Amino acid sequence: LNYRVPRTRKEIFETLIKGLQRLEYRGYDSAGVAIDGNNNEDKERYIRLIKKRGKVKALDEELYKQDGMDLKADFETHFGIAHTRWATHGVPNAVNSHPQRSDKRNEFVVIHNGIITNYKDLRKFLETKGYEFESETDTETIPKLVKYMYDNRETEDISFSALVERVIQQLEGAFALVFKSIHYPGEAVATRRGSPLLIGVRSKYKLSTEQIPILYRTCNIENVKNICKARMKRLDSSTCLHAIGDKAVEFFFASDASAIIEHTNRVIFLEDDDIAAVADGKLSLHRLKRSASDDPSRAIQTLQMELQQIMKGNFSAFMQKEIFEQPESVVNTMRGRVNFETKTVLLGGLKDHLKEIRRCRRLIIIGCGTSYHAAIATRQVLEELTELPVMVELASDFLDRNTPVFRDDVCFFISQSGETADTLMALRYCKDHGALTVGITNTVGSSISRETDCGVHINAGPEIGVASTKAYTSQFISLVMFGLMMSEDRISLQNRRQEIISGLQMLPEMIKEVLSLDEKIHDLALELYKQRSLLVMGRGYNYATCLEGALKIKEITYMHSEGILAGELKHGPLALIDKHMPVIMVIMKDPCFTKCQNALQQVIARQGRPIILSSREDTESSKFAYKTIELPHTVDCLQGVLSVVPLQLLSFHLAVLRGYDVDFPRNLAKSVTVE
Ligand code: G6P
Repeated sequence: LNYRVPRTRKEIFETLIKGLQRLEYRGYDSAGVAIDGNNNEDKERYIRLIKKRGKVKALDEELYKQDGMDLKADFETHFGIAHTRWATHGVPNAVNSHPQRSDKRNEFVVIHNGIITNYKDLRKFLETKGYEFESETDTETIPKLVKYMYDNRETEDISFSALVERVIQQLEGAFALVFKSIHYPGEAVATRRGSPLLIGVRSKYKLSTEQIPILYRTCNIENVKNICKARMKRLDSSTCLHAIGDKAVEFFFASDASAIIEHTNRVIFLEDDDIAAVADGKLSLHRLKRSASDDPSRAIQTLQMELQQIMKGNFSAFMQKEIFEQPESVVNTMRGRVNFETKTVLLGGLKDHLKEIRRCRRLIIIGCGTSYHAAIATRQVLEELTELPVMVELASDFLDRNTPVFRDDVCFFISQSGETADTLMALRYCKDHGALTVGITNTVGSSISRETDCGVHINAGPEIGVASTKAYTSQFISLVMFGLMMSEDRISLQNRRQEIISGLQMLPEMIKEVLSLDEKIHDLALELYKQRSLLVMGRGYNYATCLEGALKIKEITYMHSEGILAGELKHGPLALIDKHMPVIMVIMKDPCFTKCQNALQQVIARQGRPIILSSREDTESSKFAYKTIELPHTVDCLQGVLSVVPLQLLSFHLAVLRGYDVDFPRNLAKSVTVE
């Protein structure tokens, strides 16, 4: 949204499309934009909607095929919106994609992330009022509802933000919304509940404030009918502060900072039920009700993210780049926290709560997908170092079970994005039960990092590939660091701690060694890529590697893949083994080595042809292997950081050989902000 910064329509298109492309990893079923139809000089503005099924590139091409769209038309003030969709309600097609509209004149258009759970009731209500729905989406109720509110307004000059306030009072579920309307040209309103939303601010001039005050409407919006015109007007003008002064300024609303980072690194993170409105170049933030705990303002923060961090560079896919970044990303996770000389660990975000954590009844670690696997991977070492019972839970299942949580529990929430809806719901549930909550996330300002009592930022840098790789290894190391910090005073654990800390120091070099096996792994992929199934088996510290490896394979290669606990082999999975079934076995020199050898023999006895990920120190296993990939040996509880890397590489090569788009696996999204 630009003010006194003239832009051509072409530039506006480019900004929107570039922003979408940076966010494409969040959803890529379909995409759409809404922009003004005429330029500033024309009195009669209208909204043009352009939507297309498929990736953003398809939409980009479509924009330039439109009739009557003068690309050189200049706009001094212009507000455009764009969206890329991951379907929840309704198949991916142009009609179901966003922006959704109020009517054929496009009086109100809306983009939405999240799910409106009461959309059926709203739709029924609106249908009785004569509204005709064209899509199968939950979102379409929103532009229709805002039009309904507008058409039935009591005061002629109700503000756009007051209108949106009324709308969100009717909505249940999760949302981040941005509204545009022909009735409010050049104005923007955005709001959120449960889904992330931020505002980027770009100005050539120094901002007059770094804190934007929150404004509360003094009227009860439900009684708005009784409020006279004059009062409404006064309220609106008094609550609209100049955040920036009336200098040239541009605002960007986005669900993720990567969409806007090339324009500005100055952002405001919105909280649930904040309503942000821009009119006349002035930003104002509103809330409906004041509560004692409310922060009275929102700060403009400066992000450290660099544009280069979200570009592919010389790699063919983000996932590949992120796999190869791991020698550096793990260093960034440990930087300033692990002192290799004094063999101490300090996590600044947890230090004030350490006493309380040490006194707790148990640790509960909650996550989804890869983040859940990071918790499985470190459970044993955490039990050992903290001497506490550790429960590891999938967020959705944890909630389904209404799991008992107590005031003296400490609950960890592991999430790369910090926005996964299931994990966020579990966090709120644990908070309601009075537990101390700890976030382990990769995204500064994310909902989980803000809503937890304390936490650790894993510092892996932006992760764009849908299949998570470097976040996993950094989450792994963060949890190990937590265990080390907890055990600092335990005399009996000193040798073990020193061994682990030395192991951490050597990890980056060892990851490099594993990455140098890339060609060998590519050759293995050449042998395997036509298979339909791939089993990954192991136990103990490396069980999580099997789960995570199998998840990578199914996510991006669409092969059936299962991570199998070798201890369970004889209780079922052995029936799958024959000379045709490819099976990868992770056998490391650790306390489970002998038991893994037993599993290996059981596989061999059924004519299985195991591909073994083995430890370089192991001279035994390779004798029975169809193929061996030898890995450097490290401390047992850190071995999983190394053993997962060949499986990340293998899934990548398999997907490429099978002809799939590695960064955009079908049906998946990077941040699943719906339950
Ligand atoms: C989605 C992604 C997975 C990810 C999971 C948890 O399913 O596709 O790659 O592991 O969400 O995401 P989080 O951001 O909470 O770690």
